[in-house]
Amino acid sequence: MSVVRLLPRQPVQGEIVDIATDKSMSHRAAILSLLCSKPSRVRGFLRAEDTLHTLQIAKNLGLGVQEKDDELILTPPKGIVEPSCILDCGNAGTAMRLFCGLLAGAQGSFFVLDGDCYLRARPMQRVITPLSQMGAQIWGRKGDSCAPLAVRGGALRATNYRSPVASAQVKSAFVLAALRANGECEFVEPEPSRDHTERMLQAMGATLSCDRGMLRIVPLESPLEPLDIAIPSDPSSAFFFAVAAAIVPDSEIVLRNVLLNPTRIEAYQILRKMGAQISFHAIPNAYDDVGDIHIRYGGQLAAVDVSERIAWLIDEIPALAVAMACAKGKSRLTGAKELRVKETDRIAAVATNLRACGISVHELPDGFEIDGGRVQAATCDSFGDHRIAMSFAILGLLVPMTITDSGAMAVSFPTFLNLLSRFSMIEES
Ligand code: S3P
Repeated sequence: MSVVRLLPRQPVQGEIVDIATDKSMSHRAAILSLLCSKPSRVRGFLRAEDTLHTLQIAKNLGLGVQEKDDELILTPPKGIVEPSCILDCGNAGTAMRLFCGLLAGAQGSFFVLDGDCYLRARPMQRVITPLSQMGAQIWGRKGDSCAPLAVRGGALRATNYRSPVASAQVKSAFVLAALRANGECEFVEPEPSRDHTERMLQAMGATLSCDRGMLRIVPLESPLEPLDIAIPSDPSSAFFFAVAAAIVPDSEIVLRNVLLNPTRIEAYQILRKMGAQISFHAIPNAYDDVGDIHIRYGGQLAAVDVSERIAWLIDEIPALAVAMACAKGKSRLTGAKELRVKETDRIAAVATNLRACGISVHELPDGFEIDGGRVQAATCDSFGDHRIAMSFAILGLLVPMTITDSGAMAVSFPTFLNLLSRFSMIEES
């Protein structure tokens, strides 16, 4: 099992231009290009474990993939090909859930989706329920709720669905199936989740509209226009460096060419509320908002209460918890029971690791209270979760820190330690 040891070295200064590109957009670029009739051009596709699993699955379904420097040319098949192998999603919940939606309507073909031990433990009922309502045939372990999953593609009927969870994965699975339904479909979620699927599909010529929280999807009558897209850096990956600059005195950093979609940068607003100096500098872009983020240490952070727009910061919560551990006073985060079913139970993982760092944490069913103070040297585990591993590695900029099972970082950000080594002494074994 990989272990990494970190020692503080210097403030977080300068600019970072090569943060991992956006994971959500990369998954979607590979999946949506299967719905075109002409080749898509994708620059900056994320080469990390999660998205490479998606690309491999797309290849298994007939996508031609040509690599030219930083560009992928993705040539769709005439129709989705029935694969002779199991489709391996690895650790990627986005892959498993979105492919369920895409494949549910691939008439006459049979598919098996599987993943690693963490993904096999995650709930799939949330996509199987709405897709079954459309007539999809999907089976799985534990009463059709866990992977491995078997999908038999068939005809889908127009359906209206009110989702009990605010989840872009559930919404996207529904939308992908709705594109092949026999009439218009509607989808409502309790609060807005990230909207990459809608934005990318609209740019590709699909007819989707959103009115007061109700998403309406018109089935495709012809193939989508191909993508021609440059994927910017992932704001969730960039956020580790934002927290780093916010907790290490004398830090000042510019994060270049980051996706600034409003559904993805809420955690930066919270960090700003805690006292970090943060500004955004947008650059015009066709598909989505993109720009540079400037972060400066603004003194010891202040405690904060977070209970709103949780879906817009769900992936950043482990790193925010690290910021809360360094803040003066008691912070509280609620409304995030979704954290219990991420790559690991992130509430339990954050609590265990922060306690190892000498911080007092009170676990709530849907969040936690953190009594900020002086963090001490510790050994923390990743629990097999990339974001837990990277969040606690950031504390290695303040105190000696060891992260066990650190290989999980490669799921979304394989070059993370390389970039962090500019500011921390790092030993890997
Ligand atoms: C994602 C959606 C989120 C997020 C995940 C990526 C996506 O999950 O946590 O890392 O790309 O759609 P949920 O939609 O399940 O909240």
